[in-house]
Amino acid sequence: MTEAQALDEIARLTRELERHNRLYYVEAAPEITDREYDELYRSLESLEARFPTLKSPNSPTQRVGGEPATGFRPVEHPVRMMSLDNTYSEQELVEFYDRLRKLLGCRDVPVVVEPKIDGVAVSAVYENRELVRVATRGDGQTGDDITRNARTIRRLPLHLPPEAPTGRFELRGEVFLPTAGFATINREREEEGEPLFMNPRNATAGSLKQLDPRVTASRRLDVIFYGVGLAPDLLLEEQVDLQGFFQRCHFPCGDKIWLANNLEETLAAIRELDVLRHSLPYVTDGAVIKVNSLTAQSALGSTSKAPRWAIAYKFEPEQAETRLLNIEIQVGRTGALTPVAHLEPVVVSGSTVARATLHNQEEIERKDIRIGDTVVIEKAGEIIPAVVRVVREKRAGDPPKFAMPAACPACGTPVRRDAELVKVFCPNEHCPAKLKRRLQHFASRTAMDIEGLGEQLVDQLVDAGLARSIPDLYRLDASSLCHLDRMGSKKAANLLRALDSSRSRPVWKLVFALGIPHVGATSARELIRHFGSIANLANAPSDELASLPDVGKVVSESIRTFFDSPANQALLAELETLGLPVATGGTAPGPAEPGSSGALANTTWVITGTLSQPREVFTERILAAGGKVAGSVSSATTYLLAGEKAGSKLTKAASLGVRVIDEPTFEGMINPG
Ligand code: IVH
Repeated sequence: MTEAQALDEIARLTRELERHNRLYYVEAAPEITDREYDELYRSLESLEARFPTLKSPNSPTQRVGGEPATGFRPVEHPVRMMSLDNTYSEQELVEFYDRLRKLLGCRDVPVVVEPKIDGVAVSAVYENRELVRVATRGDGQTGDDITRNARTIRRLPLHLPPEAPTGRFELRGEVFLPTAGFATINREREEEGEPLFMNPRNATAGSLKQLDPRVTASRRLDVIFYGVGLAPDLLLEEQVDLQGFFQRCHFPCGDKIWLANNLEETLAAIRELDVLRHSLPYVTDGAVIKVNSLTAQSALGSTSKAPRWAIAYKFEPEQAETRLLNIEIQVGRTGALTPVAHLEPVVVSGSTVARATLHNQEEIERKDIRIGDTVVIEKAGEIIPAVVRVVREKRAGDPPKFAMPAACPACGTPVRRDAELVKVFCPNEHCPAKLKRRLQHFASRTAMDIEGLGEQLVDQLVDAGLARSIPDLYRLDASSLCHLDRMGSKKAANLLRALDSSRSRPVWKLVFALGIPHVGATSARELIRHFGSIANLANAPSDELASLPDVGKVVSESIRTFFDSPANQALLAELETLGLPVATGGTAPGPAEPGSSGALANTTWVITGTLSQPREVFTERILAAGGKVAGSVSSATTYLLAGEKAGSKLTKAASLGVRVIDEPTFEGMINPG
């Protein structure tokens, strides 16, 4: 193949892949299977490898992130990126509207009302219908060039369709982490003993600031456009026209905005949004109200910090008062000590809250939180409960200040602090609390899925000295178990059977179960797909590890440290003699290739709502039965498996005529008869 032919072929593949990306991520209506997509993708990848000079930074292959960077280049914004004036009060909103009336000299000022997305503001510049740069706001004049990280956002168009103008133009939008992704990331971080993100905005900012774009790619960020910067060619007259422009040019934009012709309609739109926002896939902390006429916008201009033509009306987060009964120290799997508030149970934003993390000592000191205090709590970003402040007037006397313990509450070993003196951890490798949490993780559903071996039983086993390590679990027998409290012979037999069948779990589950820091379920699967067995993984050089998608430097080093440790080598040898799949590819095959055989062959599933077990369990079972699982409902979806409180996916399925299956029906399909 000549270079000219390669260039043509690369352009064709790029166009195709971009189109399928859009069909999948934006329109939720894929036309080809994942496997066909992968084939196109691999053809492009191999052509780019043969002709490296022809590889464009906007190639679809760059969405997975390239090599780490050393820092972010500053970029000057063509038009200043301003922030918005904020208000929580309807009165101030009315005053804002009155000001518009006066300045524009008319009774009714049409405005657009749209959700205020809780993410990170970005500017995206396009030229010749190609993405050329994405930057953060920074101080408004100068931001950081985050183009490489932003390219990993699947819905961010890298190439524009012929309908788009060819000249240079700049759009403004918000990069955010969808609510569901936020919950997953925090669950994984909790499992790995890493500090939780307070809200989706922090998680987004953290993900965009990663020097390694592969880490950003793994976070599955999203973007929504809502405005323009410097864009002389766009020839728009009204803010609402932007919506049409975005849609024509395939820019993701909010699907719900209101055009309100007067003050009453504005207030009504805001009220509607306040109800609707709970069902949006992202966190909204308010409404943004913008004058609709762009001529009026420029006539109104801006103050030194914010435009006069827009305002953000913030919704009050739901708060509740309750009493702080105690501060308990939790010892995590990695030994991290975290103070946790035990609260008198109270209902906030629809669910009962009895515990809240207090993060660390500094946080407790800053808020001056003491045991016995009456505290105000709210759900940070509407998701995680947090203690906002103490109601000082209600404090009785002068209760002692809280201090982190000098020794681990579980084993008495003096604690250590990290370099910044914020994190406190127990250095004892044999700490029973760490062991308990490790065993609990090992037995959890996503890991070895040992039915019946939950927190309580793990605690009992460790306290009774029956489990001093993971291998000890496989040495349990009926005679030792029968001495435990609440352990009948039937329960003991069930546990032993569950332990026995866990030996034949797919190998990646064992990798995840080992609790290697930074190795979540997805990476474990990828690692085994690549290396085939734990023995191969254990011998993999760190550069080979780091070259895998979603792995990177930090993870590869963590994997090496784990397998280089003599204690872990001994652990693996022991597990192997106990019949676990360490050296081999496993006694049971991994999930079947989707497709031709199995009860669910040739079906594509989407899972939604609350089911009796975590979604991963159902994903696993569908894959094992030969089906496929997709993230969003489209015309390619065969079934929607819907649990309780199913939301927008259910509506979408209904509108597309996709069959909705409940859990009992699913069980019947998987195990006929
Ligand atoms: S318009 C000139 N629209 O809120 C100001 N901003 O508090 C243009 N934001 O910096 C901003 N959703 O990061 C606008 N629909 C929306 C928004 C939105 C979220 C963010 C944006 C802005 C911040 C101001």
